[in-house]
Amino acid sequence: MKSIPLHQLFLLPIMRSSMFLTIALVLTSFSNLSLATAEEVSNLRITNEASSLLKWKSSLDKQSQSFLSSWVGSNPCYDWIGIGCSNTTTDGENVVTSIRLSNSSLRGTLGDLDSLSLRNLESLDLSLNSLSGIIPQRIGNLNSVKFLNLSCNQLTGLIPSSIGNLTNLHYLYLDNNTLSGSIPSELGRARDLIDLTLSKNLLNGTIPFSFINFSRIERIEINDNNISGSIPEYFANYTHLERLNLGKNNFSGVIPSELGKRSALVHLKLFMNNLIGPIPRDMNLTKMEVFAVSRNMLSGQLPHNICVSGRLTQLCACYNRFSGSVPKSVKNCSSLVRVRLQNNQLTGNISDDFGIYQELDYINLSYNKLYGEVSSNWGFCPKLTSLQISNNNLSGKLPIELGRATGLGELYLSSNHLVGKIPKSLERLSSLMKLYLDDNSLSGTIPSELGSLDNLEVLNLAKNSFTGLIQEKLGECLKLRSLNLSGNRFEGVIPVHLSKLDKLEFLDLSENSLIGYLPPQLGGLKALETMNLSHNSLIGSIPATFIQMLSLTTVDISFNQLEGPLPSMRAFEEAPMEALRNNKLLCGYNTGLDCRVERRNQDNENKFLKVMLTIVVPSLGCMLLLVVIISSIFFYLHKRNPNGTSRPQEIEAKPFTIWSYDGKMVYENIINAIDDFDPKHIVGVGGFGTVYKAELLSEVFAVKKFHASEDDKMHNFKSFEAEIRTLTEIRHQNIVKLYGFCLHPRHSFLVYEFLVGGSLRMVLNDMKRAVEFDWEKRLMVVNGVANALSYMHHDCSQPIIHRDLSSNNVLLDSDWVAHVSDFGTARVLDQDSSNWTSFAGTVGYVAPELAYTMEVSEKCDVYSFGVLALEVIMGKHPGDFLTVSPDMKGTSFIEILDQRLPSPSEQLAKQLELLVEVALSCLQKNPHSRPSMREVSLGLSV
Ligand SMILES: *[C@@H]1O[C@H](CO)[C@@H](O)[C@H](O)[C@H]1NC(C)=O
Ligand SMILES: *[C@@H]1O[C@H](CO)[C@@H](O)[C@H](O)[C@H]1NC(C)=O
Ligand SMILES: *[C@@H]1O[C@H](CO)[C@@H](O)[C@H](O)[C@H]1NC(C)=O
Ligand SMILES: *[C@@H]1O[C@H](CO)[C@@H](O)[C@H](O)[C@H]1NC(C)=O
Ligand SMILES: *[C@@H]1O[C@H](CO)[C@@H](O)[C@H](O)[C@H]1NC(C)=O
Repeated sequence: MKSIPLHQLFLLPIMRSSMFLTIALVLTSFSNLSLATAEEVSNLRITNEASSLLKWKSSLDKQSQSFLSSWVGSNPCYDWIGIGCSNTTTDGENVVTSIRLSNSSLRGTLGDLDSLSLRNLESLDLSLNSLSGIIPQRIGNLNSVKFLNLSCNQLTGLIPSSIGNLTNLHYLYLDNNTLSGSIPSELGRARDLIDLTLSKNLLNGTIPFSFINFSRIERIEINDNNISGSIPEYFANYTHLERLNLGKNNFSGVIPSELGKRSALVHLKLFMNNLIGPIPRDMNLTKMEVFAVSRNMLSGQLPHNICVSGRLTQLCACYNRFSGSVPKSVKNCSSLVRVRLQNNQLTGNISDDFGIYQELDYINLSYNKLYGEVSSNWGFCPKLTSLQISNNNLSGKLPIELGRATGLGELYLSSNHLVGKIPKSLERLSSLMKLYLDDNSLSGTIPSELGSLDNLEVLNLAKNSFTGLIQEKLGECLKLRSLNLSGNRFEGVIPVHLSKLDKLEFLDLSENSLIGYLPPQLGGLKALETMNLSHNSLIGSIPATFIQMLSLTTVDISFNQLEGPLPSMRAFEEAPMEALRNNKLLCGYNTGLDCRVERRNQDNENKFLKVMLTIVVPSLGCMLLLVVIISSIFFYLHKRNPNGTSRPQEIEAKPFTIWSYDGKMVYENIINAIDDFDPKHIVGVGGFGTVYKAELLSEVFAVKKFHASEDDKMHNFKSFEAEIRTLTEIRHQNIVKLYGFCLHPRHSFLVYEFLVGGSLRMVLNDMKRAVEFDWEKRLMVVNGVANALSYMHHDCSQPIIHRDLSSNNVLLDSDWVAHVSDFGTARVLDQDSSNWTSFAGTVGYVAPELAYTMEVSEKCDVYSFGVLALEVIMGKHPGDFLTVSPDMKGTSFIEILDQRLPSPSEQLAKQLELLVEVALSCLQKNPHSRPSMREVSLGLSV
């Protein structure tokens, strides 16, 4: 009878009369306790423990108390929740030996837990509750405790030094609290400690030297604190150590060279410290499962037998300075789940370093110096979700087998030297969210199959050599947030379908060969923040619909041929000059041009248009003039006063005259024939519109459509007007025929004859057709163009200047006869007005004087013709040759001939030589020194 101090007896909340009896007995017979039965004494002790526990219960919040509702009465060993008792003590007493209340939503402090009365407690588990406040010093009274778990609470303050009194402690868990200060060195007195976790607190200082006393330790987890100093050498003497986690601290110095030699570590986690030097050389790796040393400054080689255990699941050594090759044992390490080796200096050929892993989920080898090919083995890893080998020195093609890794969510292969096409098999990667193939040497077209990747969020194909159209199927990847196709050789128009990507935040199409208008539908990209369209050949104005892009903050449209006012929205207002420069004629904000000045100029030229809009459009909605009866035009033209200036009334009268020809029906038939402007009918993009091929009435027409966003109307109609005016007055075998037009707020289009031969540029760029296009045909084409221009300059009632002649708008028919098209920018040259005008023309064909004077004359066309003629002879744009050409005395003209053709016969050579001579005379700097087109035309037909 040793365990009930008298003073505690008096403190008992004594309510029952039987208790009074017992106390009386104890008090009166203090020296002769044998009078009390053993059972009675045991009851007393339990009552004492009970009162202590009830006191703690009453200090907790209501919810906790109701959870502990079974804690009533005086015997905790009788069905109290969480309480365990033992009757195995020497005298056979009932004592509380364990309190297990993990994850019980307890809220309160440990302040009222009377540890003195719980001295038999061996196990205390209060983990996963909401206990707050400090760990009281009195915890040191629990000197029987072997298992103490206070983890995952909100405890604060220091770890009390009295914890050193718990010399029986085997298991101590204080992790996931907010404990601060340093680890008390007294803890080292718990020499039998097996398991210690102090992770995720705010502890600082160093590891106390007293830890040297832990001879049985199996696990030390101190990760996620702010402990500094070096890893103690004596850790290497822990012969039972299996798990060591010192991650996310401030440890520095080298890893003890003997660490893990005597013991076989299962987990070694030293990530995110400041460790230097090599990994210990002869670590016993026979049990290794997790090896995590990422984000230090470790160097040397990774252990080649890292996976000798056959149980390695995680190999994380990223962000260090490891060199050498991928450890040999990795190849058939079938247990691997996560591999992070990125950002090191690993070398070697990895074509064959990796095997097939049934469990592998994630592997990152990016930012190393690995070479070799992307192994087809990756395709056979059934659980792979992320494969990252960017920024290495990989070569070869993407293996078709990659398409078998159907769980793949991320594929990063940027910045390597991969070649070949994107395999169609990638369409099977239905989980793919991120595809980075940028900065390689991939080529070919984008397979339309990519459109079926409907989980794709990021597609980066930038800086490769992709060609062809931008696949409109990409518009079906509705989750796309980022699309980067920049720095390739994509051509054609920006597909309208991209406007379906309403989650798109980033769009970069810069540095390609895109042509045509900006589709107004792009305004529907409500989430778009960054749009880069720079360095293409985009034309027309910026659709006013762009103001609907509410998220847009950054734009770059530089180096295109855009014109007109910038949309009034922040992204354009705040765009720096560099993002707008080198366009045709943009006005507003940072462009340096005032739109009001521009508009005034336009107004003067748009009188015709206004009449059209106010009279014709409202009354008819749409009018179409289809010159199926071309004769009627001829009839009209012939009747016309040859010297008369064309007045608005006259032009206006024409549509009305011809309108009576079943116009409506034809309009609808055309719209039907091209399925309401379905992009699949697009055949190209001319100077001022997208060109569709319409087959109707067993004939084929080219329909050139102007887009009609509100603000653009004036601008487009302006070019529309010019074209109608010019073309309806011109009938010439070398000039594209206009059959009719439709003026409508939604669909404004022109109907032309369709020329099957395509443009001169297309022919010259096509190896096969360029060879067919022999010297005779070439001479004929150049003559044709000269005739067309001569006619326009000299045989019309007013000289008509094309202003934008290039190989792009010289079209060929099936007999290789040239037809000049795209008079969109041509204007009737009013003889007595000065011809200061806005800049038109295609870069590379524009006469030098236009760049600084903006003065348009027929001689500008003569210059462009000179470029074109040389282009036909050389088979490519003369480029630099222009700047050195004027005295080409040194060069034999034979040298510049298109090498794809056989040498011309003597007869043809003479004609070609003459043509080169004429062309060069057209290219003289001084416009007045250039010949007229009539002279050119006559000169060539000699
Ligand atoms: C005490 O020991 C007896 C007999 O061994 C056993 O039946 C009883 O369950 C034990 N009581 C407790 C509370 O462990
Ligand atoms: C190791 O334990 C012994 C016995 O408890 C103690 O005397 C000694 O001070 C401890 N060593 C350290 C470094 O604390
Ligand atoms: C490695 O550790 C295991 C398990 O602890 C042990 O059986 C084996 O002998 C050790 N190997 C070496 C080379 O020390
Ligand atoms: C790895 O492969 C080699 C040769 O195929 C074999 O000898 C070795 O036992 C394999 N190791 C494991 C861990 O499977
Ligand atoms: C890239 O790999 C090739 C071999 O495929 C090698 O010749 C070349 O030196 C490597 N380049 C770099 C920068 O490592």
